[in-house]
Amino acid sequence: MAQTRIAVIVGSLRRESFNRQLADAIGKLVPADVRLDRLEIGDLPLFNQDHEQQPTDAVRRLKEGVRAAQGVIFVTPEYNRSVPGVLKNALDQGSRPYGQSVWARKPAGVIGMSVGAIGTSLAQQHLRNILAYLDMPTLGQPEAFLQHKDGTFLPDGSLDERVAGFVGTWVAAYLDFVRRHAA
Ligand code: FNR
Repeated sequence: MAQTRIAVIVGSLRRESFNRQLADAIGKLVPADVRLDRLEIGDLPLFNQDHEQQPTDAVRRLKEGVRAAQGVIFVTPEYNRSVPGVLKNALDQGSRPYGQSVWARKPAGVIGMSVGAIGTSLAQQHLRNILAYLDMPTLGQPEAFLQHKDGTFLPDGSLDERVAGFVGTWVAAYLDFVRRHAA
């Protein structure tokens, strides 16, 4: 059975991050022929165009991880109504040098959780702009704006039944989207 490899990038570095927990929970919802590879972005240097020809090991690791994947899931909070800086930095790092972007044509999925009632919708909209420029086809529906509440995560780290049902539907739609956009 051919394995589908999907890179997962979390836009929060916080140890107890809800989005990190959401990414973990998504890992429990994918079928056996799908492998999720978490790509860490917390050790990336701040992007400096002077250094784009001499990537650090962390930058190289990010690029290799994206290249090896058939698609990328972004699981991100919203910071001040936009994308967290760490995530934008990762996107910038992977996009350079000019003409050698690792993102191009990788089908993307965008999902996120925040404490606010319109959970991450504006961050996701900003992220979609960036992904469009990076030439990443991005799942349009269903949108996934998740609000964290007490009980969203069960003690074993899985999502409560109602949220798990929705996220499972989102995951299935995204994987179907990846198959339809396979490069
Ligand atoms: C936030 N938070 C937040 N929430 C939201 O819904 N819209 C927003 O614009 C912001 N802005 C914002 C800025 C900064 C700097 C912080 C630290 C937080 C709250 C955010 O949803 C909450 O902290 C989440 O827990 C962050 O996600 P993680 O770290 O739990 O994954």
